[in-house]
Amino acid sequence: MNKRVLLTRGNLPGHGPARLSEAADVAAWTGSDKPTPTELAGLATGVDAILALGNDPVDAALMDAVGPALEVVALASMGFDNVDRAAAAERGIVVTHTPGVLAETTADLTFALILAARRRLPAAGASLAAGSWDVFRMDDYLGFDVHGATLGLIGYGQIGRAVARRARGFGMRVLHHDPYAIADDDLSTAVGLATLLAESDVVSLHVPLTEETRHLVSVRELAAMKPTATLVSTARGGVVDEAALLDAVRSGRLHSAGLDVYEREPMGRELSPLVAEEHIVTLPHIGSATESTRAAMVDLAVDNILDVLSGHPARTPLPGTPASPAKVRV
Ligand code: DGY
Repeated sequence: MNKRVLLTRGNLPGHGPARLSEAADVAAWTGSDKPTPTELAGLATGVDAILALGNDPVDAALMDAVGPALEVVALASMGFDNVDRAAAAERGIVVTHTPGVLAETTADLTFALILAARRRLPAAGASLAAGSWDVFRMDDYLGFDVHGATLGLIGYGQIGRAVARRARGFGMRVLHHDPYAIADDDLSTAVGLATLLAESDVVSLHVPLTEETRHLVSVRELAAMKPTATLVSTARGGVVDEAALLDAVRSGRLHSAGLDVYEREPMGRELSPLVAEEHIVTLPHIGSATESTRAAMVDLAVDNILDVLSGHPARTPLPGTPASPAKVRV
């Protein structure tokens, strides 16, 4: 009997879904939105593998609803804060993600946010579009130079390093703070968090959301930054205390911010007050959104499923988790 795989979305880019269909019986959510947890559990009952996105809750309730056949949940995302890792470990289920394929694309977007926030691009463009560009003024939309500025990277993994490489082209001084990368390299100097916050003109976040990193940037950290500085995040919303950030920017204690991720996603029509702030550039979680990168993410998730279902170790299990299911499953 063929293995059964559920895709939690029907509109996945690239050739991955077709490759999967050649090897397994594939079912997919067909709605244009995303399934509710109940709908997901119903669709997934009895499957051997699930290809999920980073915002599908992969929790004990889902795993139990699927049942003992479930061998692997492959995320088409790098972030995995939606996964109950302990529940997966208890049940011997492999969970994979997509490191390696989206770092450069996300670093591109990080730089777009840095430039947009430092040079006030959305506000300037909106004033043009509103017909307010009536005269050239020397003091209109003055921002801060990106070239030659100091960039502080909190988190120095694949994406942080890719941002550092871009910063070199801008002649920036780069600092990083990461308990897993405590040495200097040819791109960046390792420093403590206090030094990074005090000396950086741009602080950019590149850490996963975990219990340790939740609200890593809050009132105290924002107060430690230069009033002329910019905070950028393409990581996860929960890493920044958004109320504290809003307060810091509104009160002028922080120049600006560039955000791709939020504590509440998606926003729908209930927009966060961050969106209306002139000095906060906001995007709808598009860090990895290029055709080739999104296809590569789905492809890697498919490879992980095909590997595990054919008895091989997964290529990219979540950090610190096993690459093969704990037991031969029914
Ligand atoms: C990721 O891969 O983590 C991106 O944020 C998309 O979910």
